[in-house]
Amino acid sequence: MRESLLVDQYGRRLNYLRLSVTDRCNFRCYYCMPEEGIDFAKRSQLLSFDEMYRLSALFVGLGVDKIRITGGEPFVRNGIIPFLDKLSKLDGLNEIVITSNGTLTTQHQAALKNMGISKINISLDSLNAERFHYITRRDSFDTVYNGIMQMLDNGFDIKLNCVVAENKNIEDIIPFIELTKDHQIAVRFLEEMPFNGTETSGYTGWDHTKIYEHIAAHYNRINKIISEANSTSVNYQIASYKGSFGIIPSFSRTFCGTCNRIRLSATGELRTCLYGAPAANLRDLIRSGASGEELEQIILNAVAKRERDGFAAEAASRQSIHTSMSVLGG
Ligand code: GTP
Ligand code: 5AD
Ligand code: SF4
Repeated sequence: MRESLLVDQYGRRLNYLRLSVTDRCNFRCYYCMPEEGIDFAKRSQLLSFDEMYRLSALFVGLGVDKIRITGGEPFVRNGIIPFLDKLSKLDGLNEIVITSNGTLTTQHQAALKNMGISKINISLDSLNAERFHYITRRDSFDTVYNGIMQMLDNGFDIKLNCVVAENKNIEDIIPFIELTKDHQIAVRFLEEMPFNGTETSGYTGWDHTKIYEHIAAHYNRINKIISEANSTSVNYQIASYKGSFGIIPSFSRTFCGTCNRIRLSATGELRTCLYGAPAANLRDLIRSGASGEELEQIILNAVAKRERDGFAAEAASRQSIHTSMSVLGG
């Protein structure tokens, strides 16, 4: 493991950058934004690919070795493939992974494979086309589901993210686990967070314990499996099933103690916690001529002030807790 200069006051080493490449999306998931969308950034407000590359290189110089490309939906940004190709050749960057809604991923499979990108997390909240439509406000179930199956056949390592909520998709939980019987796929159930671009809370009380109890009522034996270090999910497997499932306490925030993530939004906002306010805007600093050393110092200062956990970050922040996840950068 390379040494990281990004170590916070609680000893957590930040080696995982989540880079949002756009706040736009071709879906309108209820837990992320209202039907009419949000006030999307103008093109000139977005980091250019050159700016993103420069900042990525800077983070890698500070010890980041994994970058997750997020959005919004990353593949709606024109020019994303050449950018990823360039990023994949950056020395010191061991892994590029992507979070996507799966509508546009299949057409880029060959290009992604060539760059060595094989881990993709796809948001899928229902296995039923009607419920999928109700949740995403788009009629793309077949495209997404068939795409996932094709990518699995082509050797991609796929995790599904499923946000659990009452009156939305409780009836999908067990079918999702049954999907892991014959497919080597990881399904993760997420607690809903308030980042939905409206003033409502949304959360329906399906926390990690309730999700686990619902699952435990259906299976005699659930094996806990070893998770990757810094994993957001606690992971399990049903005996003899090929895949696995996990639960992400994204709202309960039980994993903050091992959080290794730092975030850069599509408009250049630097966050050391999903629940916190931006520590700086790196786009504005670049555009006003900041040098590499100045940018590094600002990043190091932000890390030094990082809060202990998502509750402390939320308490210290004066910004709305309802900022859309597509703005924060999934
Ligand atoms: P892996 O790198 O594959 O473990 O993925 P990941 O879980 O870090 O990334 P993904 O984009 O798939 O995010 C899935 C969900 O994890 C998000 O919707 C959030 O619910 C949760 N999550 C990711 N990072 C954070 C974080 O820093 N804080 C909190 N509270 N939740 C997070
Ligand atoms: N609560 C929980 N998860 C969310 N996501 C987006 N908005 C929310 C929210 N309000 C999830 C998406 C995607 C992941 C990056 O974040 O489902 O898979
Ligand atoms: Fe798009 Fe992801 Fe937000 Fe859904 S959760 S609207 S797929 S950015």
